[in-house]
Amino acid sequence: MIDFPQFEYQHDTLYAESVSLETIAKKFGTPCYVYSRNALTSIYYEFERAFSSDDYLICYAVKANSNLAILNLLARLGSGFDIVSGGELQRVIKAGGDPHKTVFSGVGKLADEMRMALAADILCFNVESIGELHLLNQIAAAMNKIAPVSLRVNPDVDAKTHPYISTGLKENKFGIPIEEAEQIYLSTDIFSHIKFVGLDCHIGSQLTELDPFVQAGEKLVSLLHRLRSHNLPIEHLDLGGGLGIRYTNEALPSIHDYIEALRKTLGPIKLKLLIEPGRSLIGNAGLLLTRTAYIKHTPDRHFAIVDAAMNDLMRPSLYKAYHQILPVSKREGTVCNYQIVGPVCETGDFLGHDRKLVLEADDLLAVMSAGAYGMSMSSNYNTRPRAAEVMVDGDTVHLIRARETIDQLTASEVILQT
Ligand code: LLP
Repeated sequence: MIDFPQFEYQHDTLYAESVSLETIAKKFGTPCYVYSRNALTSIYYEFERAFSSDDYLICYAVKANSNLAILNLLARLGSGFDIVSGGELQRVIKAGGDPHKTVFSGVGKLADEMRMALAADILCFNVESIGELHLLNQIAAAMNKIAPVSLRVNPDVDAKTHPYISTGLKENKFGIPIEEAEQIYLSTDIFSHIKFVGLDCHIGSQLTELDPFVQAGEKLVSLLHRLRSHNLPIEHLDLGGGLGIRYTNEALPSIHDYIEALRKTLGPIKLKLLIEPGRSLIGNAGLLLTRTAYIKHTPDRHFAIVDAAMNDLMRPSLYKAYHQILPVSKREGTVCNYQIVGPVCETGDFLGHDRKLVLEADDLLAVMSAGAYGMSMSSNYNTRPRAAEVMVDGDTVHLIRARETIDQLTASEVILQT
């Protein structure tokens, strides 16, 4: 069992900060993502404390949860951003985020996205291939700009996480093989409109051990020494995101130990350290609130059919991810082994298997640790409007995204007239 300081029971009812989830469900309906401002802020401060007086920049990975309210709160805290599309850049700007504190990652940046990011004067492009470097150079030249670049190198390190979210092995599509990077950094004469300002890697997500971070960090630092010996003015080292969160009873390094480990790999080198945390900032600051529509007992199984589905939270279906599921109001009765499933027409549509719960139709459930890669990966499959999102702040609840309507879903579709 995990402790969620901002999501706690009071008299057998689950609360988000000072507001009961019953109240939220009544007012905003279900399914509904519920975030705690206090949880987000506290975790951000934990990162800041861990860095203490170092020269650093936290670049929140927007893909984890791109709601404008969340980006805005982080911007107000001083956070930078890690984006992977022109759309995410527009979100950052709309939310009041600072493009000069924004890095642009991703294997497939398109020309238009590069133009937009150059026009916004972002901090750095994390370039993942020689083809991308050529295109960026060409576009920067046409715009009469110099593009600040880090090469994202692939250090060939096993992140020991789910294979779909492991990105630092040589067979993965990400980054430039580390052995090839030095040569590219030294080709400054070919790339007249590129300035190499940093060095970058990201080896995967939901890492539960520090060792892979250290291995990758050491490989990058050794490359950094070589680059410096060629007088290349590398200003920052970006070690990506990836720190895991507790979904169940995983043993996890603390934020403090993680930063300490990164710092140690740097040794006495003086330069700015960037990290791109997504999940570790917002994952445990959010939950998905859902209502049980039916209880269905078959000779083989007990099903709780709830009103949230794989389109709302894909992680269980896609990665067999485990999310703790808690009753919003604890009730007395017989514990049953439930399959918590949604209304989507696929057997892969489940939120949790084999959950021991006392449950009746209409009961509310909280799917925990859903703040990261929940709403941001949701879809309209089965023409299901996406969930509402609310942010709790003490005893106040702010609607930060209204539930979609069917009219919105079909608004841009056109029927043939002939
Ligand atoms: N930086 C880069 C370049 C990334 O690709 C990612 C995540 C991050 C930072 C943030 O990683 P984090 O700190 O959140 O682990 N949908 C999957 C996770 C995909 C992660 C993709 N890249 C899931 O639900 O587990």
